[in-house]
Amino acid sequence: MSGDATPIPELIGRKRDGGELSGDELRGLLDRYLADLMDDAQMAALLMAGVIRGFTRDEAIVLTEAFIASGERVDLAGLRGPTVDKHSTGGVGDTTTFVVAPLLAAAGCQVAKLSGRGLGHTGGTIDKLEAIPGVRTDLTIDEVRAQVERVGLAVASATADLVPADKRLYALRDVTATVPSPALIAASVMSKKIAGGASTIMLDVKAGDGAFSPRVEDAVALAELCVGIGTAHGRRTAALVTDMSQPLGDAVGNALEVAAAIEVLQGAGSMRLRDVSLALAAGTLELLGRGGDEALEEVTALLDGGAALERFGDLVVAQGGDRRVIEAPRDVLPVAPVIRDWAPASGIVHAIACRRIGEIAGMLGAGRQRAADVIDPAVGLEIHVRVGDVVAADGRCAGRPAVRIHAADEASADHAAEALAQAVVTGSAAADIVPLVHRRIGFDDLP
Ligand code: URA
Repeated sequence: MSGDATPIPELIGRKRDGGELSGDELRGLLDRYLADLMDDAQMAALLMAGVIRGFTRDEAIVLTEAFIASGERVDLAGLRGPTVDKHSTGGVGDTTTFVVAPLLAAAGCQVAKLSGRGLGHTGGTIDKLEAIPGVRTDLTIDEVRAQVERVGLAVASATADLVPADKRLYALRDVTATVPSPALIAASVMSKKIAGGASTIMLDVKAGDGAFSPRVEDAVALAELCVGIGTAHGRRTAALVTDMSQPLGDAVGNALEVAAAIEVLQGAGSMRLRDVSLALAAGTLELLGRGGDEALEEVTALLDGGAALERFGDLVVAQGGDRRVIEAPRDVLPVAPVIRDWAPASGIVHAIACRRIGEIAGMLGAGRQRAADVIDPAVGLEIHVRVGDVVAADGRCAGRPAVRIHAADEASADHAAEALAQAVVTGSAAADIVPLVHRRIGFDDLP
């Protein structure tokens, strides 16, 4: 444990007043928190002070190191292919991991992915994976390594062994509105990536209303911070800054997002989810020196040929689930008791308030309002419209209902329908279309 014993309220007060904490002071606070010598209330106050006042780059680096040092590391040395990991800074309908991880495994990479649960209005890979009945995510370090060796990929939660500091802080940040700090996000993401042991790290940093960094320039700064931390740890690291001004895929909610990812793996489904997933997978191969255009062609062929779908099936089986999910997801995944179609006024879709959509899915039970809440894997929204699409007078878009609400009861469905009326905006003028990939960071310095 670090030797710093400055009274905790004094350090919180310094951060509240815009000051900087030294490495020893920050490490001391984290040590005391993990040893239960600092309350959740005090840690939440410190985090809120940092969210409002800002943590410095040095504080971000110290936090990352301290998070890594709080647990063990996965040693992936000796595996037969290049070891890779990817991570998103959090989005809505953002289920790229279930496409990218199997794609990279199919491309001969060893994918060891440490993921988180839902955070704020955003979904979490671990909650989504656990929506598949029987799937385990609390793998030990030995299990992660053995599974990657056997089937080429593993998706596990930050456990008691791995980055326990992030595990505790993540849960606290989720319910105290203290997520949107570049330093906290960078420390959380990069500690998991570095402890996870992969030598190549691909980051998907989101920008837009549904992201923790709504402005593109802030997302670029976050991407540069994360890439800098990864590179300083000797990992090949790059990032794409991608659009989160509307939900990425066709679904928001845990089981629904698994089904949406499987549709993409089957060669159908959301083009936006497909395109971002292919860009991330190709970017990872590019980091490994496997070309630019060739990499995109390679991963597209693996997706369209069904190889990635098979690898996703391998992942599900290895972690205790039923392989039939890749052929008939809706037969295996939990289904909500109330399913109701909803549509905005007919016209061209101008905006789909992304954060609000995440919050509506959360209100339906797909996310947590308090740390101890149990999520409902079946509930959420299917969203079959994108900005620029036309909703017809019958409420359909290209033959499908604009939105389908999956709820635990009629009252929750009513509530969601009311909230959707404010979130999905249509009009008669043409809509502004935002690019899917804003920026590529960290590719220019590749050898
Ligand atoms: N993803 C993480 O793992 N941590 C964050 O803080 C945000 C997104």
